[in-house]
Amino acid sequence: MVCEEVKMKAQILKMLREADGYISGQQLCEKFGVSRTAVWKVIRQLQEEGYEVEAVRNKGYRIIDSPDVMTKEELESLMDTKWAGKNIVYYDEVDSTNLRIKQLGDEGAVEGTLAVADRQTAGRGRRGRSWDSPAGESISMSILLRPQITPNQAPMLTLVMACSVAEGIMDCKDVCGEQQIQIKWPNDIIIHGKKLVGILTEMSTQIDYINHVTVGVGINVNLTDFPEEIRERATSLRLECGHKVKRAPLIAAIMKRLEENYALFMETGDLSQLMEKYSELLVNKDRDVMILGAKEQYVAHALGINKTGELIVRKEDGTIEEVYAGEVSV
Ligand code: BTN
Repeated sequence: MVCEEVKMKAQILKMLREADGYISGQQLCEKFGVSRTAVWKVIRQLQEEGYEVEAVRNKGYRIIDSPDVMTKEELESLMDTKWAGKNIVYYDEVDSTNLRIKQLGDEGAVEGTLAVADRQTAGRGRRGRSWDSPAGESISMSILLRPQITPNQAPMLTLVMACSVAEGIMDCKDVCGEQQIQIKWPNDIIIHGKKLVGILTEMSTQIDYINHVTVGVGINVNLTDFPEEIRERATSLRLECGHKVKRAPLIAAIMKRLEENYALFMETGDLSQLMEKYSELLVNKDRDVMILGAKEQYVAHALGINKTGELIVRKEDGTIEEVYAGEVSV
């Protein structure tokens, strides 16, 4: 399909969604300067893709339901942002959306370019682990950022994304109900004590400046089974909400939050305007956690994060420490 057709299809979808009732064929013809046959062709395509669009003589078209797809048109019709996720690259299957965004970044793609895949064949997790993203069941997406910051500020972007993912999912009450989503420092997203989302941030740098940053997000949306080794610790929205969940609205909601939170981050170059709400979302807040550092392991009481994203903990001897890296157990 040519680019103009994709754009028209996305805009027709958006208009159908936002309409209060029917939209007449005439309105659509005038808006796009095309014939009735061309409009009808788009409506037919949408119906073939699983959109339930009602066509009533003398009234026009009305959308009743949409399928669980994350295509460019579907995402463009839902996206309510200025730059985040405005340029979308969709893959039915790809090795890793992080790899694709890194390449697109090197080739000069615009900030906010979002790669979305229905399935990854070589999904990458943190600490060299792999990440499973089966077709039809998960969201695998990566966004390209071009912040004017130094490399040591970049890890904070992971926390900006964590906040945005937690808030975005909670905004989607119509698709997954009222949920309490939390963050396990620094960037795992948790629901009912189990991991729902993983985030992987990778950057392309020179010695003292950043070329671009790729922030990848993997969400377990409709998975119903997990490999034995993570079954106890991982879950999906479907398992927690008790029904299948549409993926595209989640992506749009997360991009909306990301755009807001990223602006707050860029105003100061740190998390000073986000640390309060991030700390409120922390599953570990006011709880004892095990700090699994590179050199030592110890139990401490988590208090929140500071403006550079370190976890503030009170050790058993009463001293306050700011943990820069490592993992904590919930
Ligand atoms: C983790 O280990 O918790 C991080 C997992 C990150 C997975 C996402 S899925 C989309 C993007 N592409 C990848 O290859 N990895 C990230």
